[in-house]
Amino acid sequence: MAKEEQRLRSSIVARTLAAQGHVELILESRELSRAVPGQFAHVLTPGMLRRPLSFSRIDPEHNRVGLLFQVVGSGTAWLAERQTNDVLDVLGPLGHGFPAPDPVRPWVLVGGGVGVPPLFAATQMWLQHTISTPQVIIGARTGAWVVMENDFKRLGVPLTVTTDDGSQGQPGNVLAPLQTWLDAHREGQVYACGPVPMLQAIRRLALGRATAYLALEQRMGCGIGACLACVVPTVGNSGMSYRRVCTDGPVFKAEELMW
Ligand SMILES: Cc1cc2nc3c(=O)[nH]c(=O)nc-3n(C[C@H](O)[C@H](O)[C@H](O)COP(=O)(O)OP(=O)(O)OC[C@H]3O[C@@H](n4cnc5c(N)ncnc54)[C@H](O)[C@@H]3O)c2cc1C
Ligand code: FES
Repeated sequence: MAKEEQRLRSSIVARTLAAQGHVELILESRELSRAVPGQFAHVLTPGMLRRPLSFSRIDPEHNRVGLLFQVVGSGTAWLAERQTNDVLDVLGPLGHGFPAPDPVRPWVLVGGGVGVPPLFAATQMWLQHTISTPQVIIGARTGAWVVMENDFKRLGVPLTVTTDDGSQGQPGNVLAPLQTWLDAHREGQVYACGPVPMLQAIRRLALGRATAYLALEQRMGCGIGACLACVVPTVGNSGMSYRRVCTDGPVFKAEELMW
């Protein structure tokens, strides 16, 4: 069971259209604003089902966090209709987030689709604490679905945008610019979140060349380690095992995953 103190009631203090079919809600919560980038909130929607969403912004100074999501089904459609001053029932922050980057090693953040939001939270939190400026690579199927581009621009980080259909930025996916970055940087640190095929390809590119942390946005049930709906095959010192994305992840080191 989730610890009682993890169940929170959080007010929506702002709501914006982040891209076509994508909404960002800003919640006020002291507890959630202590999250680490890559952790997630499990938000109650009608029917007693919860939906996992990563934090798109984490602002402990003002006790605020962001949730940015694409409307894909009934839960996200209901959330997209919530308005300022509405209150959400949230479990969180849940899971293990990204480790902070080694400040002297180069780092790159690679986000695909709705995998971009936790990488913005990571860039925002750690930019001031690293010596090297990170490269950011974000991709979407089409230009109308690119999220958080202006937020990254405001941080002043080098940014590459790719779209599958070539309607914005570089045509193609995030892998070509990542390959170029890996060729140019030794001892790199890769932070990635996005669809499973993208993460599998990033894992293959990074293995043996860089330290890579992958945040999995796996389908979930309970979100708190009880139902085993979210397990992935992993390998460690004691051999192969199935681990839960919700409590052991959602962030895993690339070499831990048996994909
Ligand atoms: C740790 C974590 C963090 C996440 N962070 C975000 C985020 O920041 N922004 C965001 O937009 N989404 C995120 N997701 C995915 C999000 O949880 C789902 O899109 C959402 O639960 C769908 O709910 P729904 O009721 O709207 O759709 P449903 O009716 O449940 O599903 C609609 C369609 O989406 C598919 N789908 C549902 N969940 C997933 C999933 N996890 N992966 C792939 N396909 C799925 C279903 O198969 C179905 O085709 C995250 C998921 C996890 C596990
Ligand atoms: S979602 Fe239930 S164990 Fe992970």
